[in-house]
Amino acid sequence: MSAANTGEIAQGPPTTVPLSLSFDGLQELIMIVITGATGNVGRPLVAALAGAGERVTAVSRRPVADAGVAGVRSVAADLGDAASLRPALEGADALFLMVPPDVLGGGGGPDEVVKAAVSSGVRKVVVLSSLINGTRPQARSHEVLRVWEEAVQGSGLDWTVLRPGSFATNTLAWADSVRAERTVYAPFGEVALPVVDPDDLAAVAAMVLREEGHAGRVHELTGPAAVSPREQTAALGAALGIPLVFVELTRAQARARMVRFLPEAVADGTLDVLGAPLPGERRVSPAVEALLGRAPGSFRAWADRVAAAFR
Ligand SMILES: NC(=O)c1ccc[n+]([C@@H]2O[C@H](COP(=O)([O-])OP(=O)(O)OC[C@H]3O[C@@H](n4cnc5c(N)ncnc54)[C@H](OP(=O)(O)O)[C@@H]3O)[C@@H](O)[C@H]2O)c1
Repeated sequence: MSAANTGEIAQGPPTTVPLSLSFDGLQELIMIVITGATGNVGRPLVAALAGAGERVTAVSRRPVADAGVAGVRSVAADLGDAASLRPALEGADALFLMVPPDVLGGGGGPDEVVKAAVSSGVRKVVVLSSLINGTRPQARSHEVLRVWEEAVQGSGLDWTVLRPGSFATNTLAWADSVRAERTVYAPFGEVALPVVDPDDLAAVAAMVLREEGHAGRVHELTGPAAVSPREQTAALGAALGIPLVFVELTRAQARARMVRFLPEAVADGTLDVLGAPLPGERRVSPAVEALLGRAPGSFRAWADRVAAAFR
């Protein structure tokens, strides 16, 4: 199977070796740093690693994720300020790097973060990037994310890039109007994309962080089927047990809502994809299944799991 067909841009056969280091026959647990630790991907990733018995350092500006979770320590740091990250990186073997919206909006570059990781003795780095970095390599909207991806690839560390498509969790932006009016307002009602469950991204990230054999690989990650906003609305209604009304927004109306929480350029680039996806953005990637040995979760399954957030 070609690299394009597996959702992976890769070299060399993978080998699977447990991440723990061996010294005189003793297994020594390594430490893994997760940035964005209370976010859509970070939260389930911290849980997956801690559940597998790994030592985890959970990083966010306002850390709360570790309350009562064995093996997890929380450290406050800002990715826009590499110096604040250094205490989190002490003793770390692996780093999961997500680039938060304020940094995507120009709040700090990757060089100092990568330098801090290298000088702290980090051996492996996994960066959460975007499918758009492969499908639209010139897109201005994703220039900052591209710079972070390239910095990781040029770091000299064992790097792996995760390039997901649109997250199912983006629809949490519909929660207020679903609660108040049983209505979803969204653009491009009929345009279907294979949205991905962030729990699957976390499962892939946990695997890549814990095992060897993924260095120098780019994994394109999507859900199992393309599903339009109108179909997502129906699935969400079914999960909630109530019919929901779908109201299509114009691109300008959708943009006005998105720029409340995304840099303008990122909102514009995202709308380009939502409105007129390229073949590589419509395609269901087999990578989640190839990596995890099970199909990725559907939008409906995600909606069933998180329905309470819309009630
Ligand atoms: N949404 C999509 O459809 C999509 C698709 C492809 C790629 N992506 C990429 O995925 C990433 C977002 O992942 P996500 O949804 O898991 O993120 P998210 O839920 O927005 O993550 C928020 C997490 O990041 C922390 N955080 C925010 N700003 C920070 C800062 N300056 N320094 C340190 N921590 C900070 C937050 O905690 P605090 O606020 O306490 O710091 C929280 O832990 C972005 O890089 C995006 O480009 C998203």
